[in-house]
Amino acid sequence: MNRRTTTLSASVALAAALALTGCSSSSDDGKPELKVSGAFMPQPVMDMAGGFLTITNDSGTADKLTSVTSTISDDVTIHETKNQKMQQVTSFDIPANGELKLARGGSHIMFMELKKKPKQGEKVGIELHFEKSDPIKVDLPVEAAGHNPQH
Ligand code: CU
Repeated sequence: MNRRTTTLSASVALAAALALTGCSSSSDDGKPELKVSGAFMPQPVMDMAGGFLTITNDSGTADKLTSVTSTISDDVTIHETKNQKMQQVTSFDIPANGELKLARGGSHIMFMELKKKPKQGEKVGIELHFEKSDPIKVDLPVEAAGHNPQH
């Protein structure tokens, strides 16, 4: 009798564990679905550069861009521009069913102390890191120094 009870509670525990596993994998499916478009870096004129792109979130879950890394610089930060002055921020919001737009004159990725100066036509690899989504690798095409597309 005792033994049977033990077996029963063990199988209940197993079922509960399986249910938990199933639950966490289905919440993975609810991760934000992010797409990157319009990425570019204007050809740098000094040893610093800006990066611009749009991140579209086609899901009902908001996310945040928390950091950017690149092989071209060990000092990559994210900046917003207020009153024509830029300042570093710790993250950018990516609203649910919305977008985060990094554009000239506004928010941007900042690359300091470039290890090399990329030329127009080259590509600069970066990796975007998010609060919830997996990192996304993007190649930034290097455009003319004054490049400023209107979306
Ligand atoms: Cu900046």
